[in-house]
Amino acid sequence: MRVEERVRELLNRMTLAEKIGQMCQVTGGTEEHKDLVRQGRVGSILNVSESEAPDRARVSNDFQAAAVKESRLGVPLIIGRDVIHGFRTVMPIPLGQAASFDMPLVEEAAAVAAREASACGINWTFAPMVDVARDPRWGRIAEGGGEDPLLTSRLGAAMVRGFQGPDPAHPERIAACAKHYVGYGAAEGGRDYNTTWIPEGLLRDVYLPSFKACVDAGALTLMSAFNDLNGIPATGNPWALRQVLKTEWGFGGFVVSDWASVEEMIPHGLCSDKPEAARAAVAAGVDMEMVSACFSEHLVQLVEAGRVPMELIDDAVGRILGVKFQLGLFDSPYTEEARSNVLLTDGHLDVAKRLATESCVLLKNDEALPLPGDMGSLAVIGPLADAPVDQLGCWTMDGRGEDTVTPLQALREALRGRCDVRHAPGLPDCRSTDTAGFAEARRVAGDCDAAVLFLGEDAGLSGEAHCRAFLDLPGAQEELVAALADVGRPVIAIVMTGRPLTLTGIVEHVNALLVAWHPGTMGGPALADLLLGVSSPSGKLPVSFPRTIGQVPVYYAHKNTGRPAPPGKEGVPVGTPLDPESFFSTYLDMHHSPLFPFGYGLSYGAASYSNLKLSGPALSMGETLEVAVTVTNDSAVAIEEVVQLYVRDPVASLTRPVKELKDFMRVPLAPGESRKVSFALGTEHLAFHNGDGQRIVEPGVFHVMVGGSSQDVLKAEFTVTD
Ligand code: NOJ
Repeated sequence: MRVEERVRELLNRMTLAEKIGQMCQVTGGTEEHKDLVRQGRVGSILNVSESEAPDRARVSNDFQAAAVKESRLGVPLIIGRDVIHGFRTVMPIPLGQAASFDMPLVEEAAAVAAREASACGINWTFAPMVDVARDPRWGRIAEGGGEDPLLTSRLGAAMVRGFQGPDPAHPERIAACAKHYVGYGAAEGGRDYNTTWIPEGLLRDVYLPSFKACVDAGALTLMSAFNDLNGIPATGNPWALRQVLKTEWGFGGFVVSDWASVEEMIPHGLCSDKPEAARAAVAAGVDMEMVSACFSEHLVQLVEAGRVPMELIDDAVGRILGVKFQLGLFDSPYTEEARSNVLLTDGHLDVAKRLATESCVLLKNDEALPLPGDMGSLAVIGPLADAPVDQLGCWTMDGRGEDTVTPLQALREALRGRCDVRHAPGLPDCRSTDTAGFAEARRVAGDCDAAVLFLGEDAGLSGEAHCRAFLDLPGAQEELVAALADVGRPVIAIVMTGRPLTLTGIVEHVNALLVAWHPGTMGGPALADLLLGVSSPSGKLPVSFPRTIGQVPVYYAHKNTGRPAPPGKEGVPVGTPLDPESFFSTYLDMHHSPLFPFGYGLSYGAASYSNLKLSGPALSMGETLEVAVTVTNDSAVAIEEVVQLYVRDPVASLTRPVKELKDFMRVPLAPGESRKVSFALGTEHLAFHNGDGQRIVEPGVFHVMVGGSSQDVLKAEFTVTD
């Protein structure tokens, strides 16, 4: 029987209470929950157990047995958990994964996470997070793909494919959940859960495409967000959920609310009480309520009183059952406990190491890296050199410090017998202002051939509800850098972070600067390879790094304004007399450009771009142009270069950004190698949404730009004709 028929057949046998039971999700695996499962009053549990594998699988199986064997209709549970960037094998944070621009590898990493999580009885992850985020104060920027809609779309789609595979019913696959729908990353002031105001055109051009990409990749579920979106909380927003997602896009899976976001429509000020919140959520298109109990307590009465139509309940339950069928839960609800031996296998650790390597972004290098092979001694300094839990980053519920290899451990291992590795943390932790360890750090650095300095944010400084009003290195870390600046040895800073930081205060004092994000379980070995030149950095920034907090938001795809600063007019010294010639869109006291732009990242080689050629000067609607460029590795080191293609529509019926990423490709280049790289640019890539929400392409001149960062590009023009 086809899924739709099985769903219809089952729906026909369900009571109203059983249907609503499917729409309720509880957290934790208590005996009380098990009773509710037996009564058919719970359709999903998240965080069913915190125990070790294989006990985790056993607990999940017990709950499944209560559903399958002891409830009247035997409908299996869908067991969820936040498997955000790996499970026991922790991958770099998603923002770091985005920096790799390597989507096949991101997909492989999600498949690893699915294999490990499914072995512990998990059927469903609340990932990928595909909220475009242009404000680094927002702590959840760590969990997504950064500032760009295309990169975030590709990242999300790759993760969906990795989690679900070609057949989500395979025992090693789990359902994905694209979240948080929608606009959550645009929280005012970068403060989590805060209000968002996003015009429809911007929603459709910037915030919605990553969700559409996940839907197109087959995402079985979506999560509605916490934020108030243009006056209607996303969880009660019929325009976003019913009109765009379910009607326009034809999404056939189900929508789960975020944690208590149904009930939170009361403090938002949309609903007066829990029954009203339940009604608004179901009417808008939420199919399952996470944690709060508006559905379980009130939906039966609301339907009986005719305030919620039965068709909406049938539609919601049909979607949930459909996903359970597609996951194969009706046919094989249990997890083989012996499968827990898949955790942390060498193959999984290898994926984590490769992804950590590719996610690192080299921002500065005065020939200090790679470290010379003949060093006699190396100073390892800084609060994150040996902080196994912090290097895992936010949202690592199942990662363990004891599984993690730190940079200190990895460098000791790699240099054993040939170089003396000396450790002086300088600061006890990232937030400390206790400078007592500075003297020892200076002494050790001065005694060694070079100093590598591991700085940044601890894992607790990013993630949900972990927003910051300042973006500088916390504690006395800048002072630590300053204290080492004059020891007369090369100083290399490695920054582990969940967000862009303002590094203006350290960049001049260090000889090299590498951003490692929170690199996960295998961050140490990946960094050791990069520092020692076993591999070359190849990541590019998925988000701009501001010079100072006052510039935020700063992102590459901004509008031009009527008064863009001419080149060279960046930043006017404080106190400059007012001069009408200088009335540009700048700051008086700081350059307006970011310190490091989107797409930027160095390697140990040198890629140069030449010969930008278009297959023709014009194309008509529906046609495709070939954009080709020659990329050359002008060095003696093998590199991988992320070639980026941007477009600008300089004159349109609505003003367009100065640049938008339309494609990218990771290209391996042997020493001295030149390659022709081609992109196919179709008129559909030139579309934007007008004020009525329609997707249009306007004829006229377009600029195309190709390069190794958003600011360093070759340019050409073409025309689109009717
Ligand atoms: C709240 C978070 O916003 C969401 O991302 C997460 O998946 C749920 N809690 C479940 O833990």
